[in-house]
Amino acid sequence: MKPVGVIGIGRYLPDHVMTNHDIQAMGLDTSDEWIRERTGIEERRIAAVGQATSDLAYHASVQALESAGITADDLDLIIVATSTPDYFLFPSTACIVQHRLGCTRPIPAFDMSAACTGFNYALSAGAQYVASGAAKKVLVVAADLLSKFLDWTDRSTCILFGDGAGAVVLGEVDPGLGIIASDLFSRGELAEILYAKEGGSRNPISMDNPTRPLVSMEGRAVFKVAVNTVVPAVESVLAANQIAVSDVKLLVFHQANLRIIDAACERLGFTPDQVVITLPKYGNTSASSIPIALCEAVSEGRLSRGDLVVLVGFGAGFTWGVTLLRWSC
Ligand code: UT7
Repeated sequence: MKPVGVIGIGRYLPDHVMTNHDIQAMGLDTSDEWIRERTGIEERRIAAVGQATSDLAYHASVQALESAGITADDLDLIIVATSTPDYFLFPSTACIVQHRLGCTRPIPAFDMSAACTGFNYALSAGAQYVASGAAKKVLVVAADLLSKFLDWTDRSTCILFGDGAGAVVLGEVDPGLGIIASDLFSRGELAEILYAKEGGSRNPISMDNPTRPLVSMEGRAVFKVAVNTVVPAVESVLAANQIAVSDVKLLVFHQANLRIIDAACERLGFTPDQVVITLPKYGNTSASSIPIALCEAVSEGRLSRGDLVVLVGFGAGFTWGVTLLRWSC
């Protein structure tokens, strides 16, 4: 098996900033103080009316390709992790991205659905192609545009999410660098603590059911399950690889709630300088929150080649995942 790692990274956030005050001004019974204290979020980015998920994914991908020093025609595979595809049936958002990037080769392109854990899942899948030699360069994009699927009258969900995309290019790296472990999990019996009830084949939109898919969540349950699942998962991947918490340079958590990150870090023993936080600026951007945060850390010079990084995702499914890697850019 070949060693596989990140050889390029990019991110994209829509221009429009929506603050907590803006949400309150929409008539919702909430406040900037409540949202900051309970979530850590101050503002989030919202996609323009005409923007679709592939548009966000495209911009992040262009940056990732540039940073890898390759063109779209050097890619052998595109995977897009998203819960908010351009089209609900087909084609996949990955196919739209393949076209927009100007790939002239008919490379495979597919979407992956693992909600906020989507980046961990897609990274793991993409890495297998490179490790086995089936692909040399894989574009893994995580993009979500949840603002179009929020109930803007539900104060317990609409305040949390923002739109965005993050992308990496995976390729063969020097021995000793790259992805060390990718542990992925699911517990389907918890599906309904975080889901969109309407609009799929279970409850299709029809003349009798003129609705649309909107995020519905049991916040407290998600909070508890998140902390209780990711903490042992991180402990186990570190133990299996004989890595101490202090050896880890950066811990990149899915950005859902500052209190979740704080609670998990306290239990695991990570210190604030090891943790990346983007929640105040971007809120929860679902699958894209990890690559966006990782990309920000890289642009702030917080990572050097060879540094140990832990990526921790969790979300609807219920799914969770931990990726351990040695930075290879
Ligand atoms: O990608 C994964 C996605 N999701 C998550 O990770 C979410 C995890 N859960 C959470 O982040 C938190 O549970 C929330 C931020 C969603 C809620 O915070 P909480 O501290 O768990 O609040 P709560 O649900 O226990 O509600 C406490 C009170 C309730 O009022 P009453 O019943 O005590 O009168 C809520 O109605 O806070 C109320 N509340 C709000 N008040 C002002 C809920 N949302 C708001 C709001 N503004 N936006």
